Amino acid sequence: MVKKMTEEKSQQNDIFNIINDRRSIRKFLDKDIPDEVLEKILQAGFRAPFAYQITSIVYTLDKEKMKKLKRMGVYPSTKLFMVFFFDFNRMEKIVQARKYEYNFDDSLLLWIGIQDVSLVAENIILAADALGLGSVLLGGAPLMVDQISEVFDVPTKVFPVVGLCLGYPDPEHRMDIRPRFPLKHTAFEDKYKELSEKDLKECMHSMDDGYITQGYYIKQNAKIPLTKGDDKIDMSQYSWCEHISRKISQGKWSDKSLIQLLREQGFKLD
Ligand SMILES: Cc1cc2nc3c(=O)[nH]c(=O)nc-3n(C[C@H](O)[C@H](O)[C@H](O)COP(=O)(O)O)c2cc1C
Repeated sequence: MVKKMTEEKSQQNDIFNIINDRRSIRKFLDKDIPDEVLEKILQAGFRAPFAYQITSIVYTLDKEKMKKLKRMGVYPSTKLFMVFFFDFNRMEKIVQARKYEYNFDDSLLLWIGIQDVSLVAENIILAADALGLGSVLLGGAPLMVDQISEVFDVPTKVFPVVGLCLGYPDPEHRMDIRPRFPLKHTAFEDKYKELSEKDLKECMHSMDDGYITQGYYIKQNAKIPLTKGDDKIDMSQYSWCEHISRKISQGKWSDKSLIQLLREQGFKLD
């Protein structure tokens, strides 16, 4: 009996089960997250490989703070909300403490920062899943740097990369596993492979058919309106390739460009 339970547990916690069964969660139970669970998840996050240890996280359980960041897409039932930053503030202090002049190409550090932060974030997502929590990333964080900095008291030289809503998943709103492009069109041996027309169709169908079968956009009631012309695509045909294309053809997302926001936050970019 003990052996069977141990086997079941080890199967549940198998890294491949966790990765393959993970899906973004957008509705959470009103159930508190124990401190030790939170700490374990954070510890796992910072076990990720790093180039410069440039990541900082600010997390909150405070609904009022979350409400202030609602425009970023924070889901109302979120129990725990995190923002992942690349943090040059700490790095600059280390360099100064070692009595060196801070003289680095900020654009390169930005890139390294994004690499480091992404790995921490993925570790946190998987660790949270392994402990029964669910999560969804929020990509609007960089464009909301001013609001985030105000709510979380963030100094210059610290910049948000992505947000993460966390909580125990509501089983009544269980999300489906989203499709992906077929591996043969995303992982290439020895040299990059341009997609033929047939390959491209296959890629697009794999996503579109999967999303339509799941009724994803109908369930989410999510359709990006056209800025001009008649919208001839009804919800039964509206799928991922249409959605992402509408998103990408939208032009500017905010009044200020990301470069401008980065400069205002203290980064020197040529
Ligand atoms: C960088 C990043 C930003 C994202 N931003 C959002 C977001 O703002 N809102 C949201 O509902 N989902 C967001 N997502 C979640 C994606 O929609 C989701 O990962 C994708 O549809 C695949 O679904 P899955 O995570 O269930 O496999 C984001 C994902 C990533 C990687």
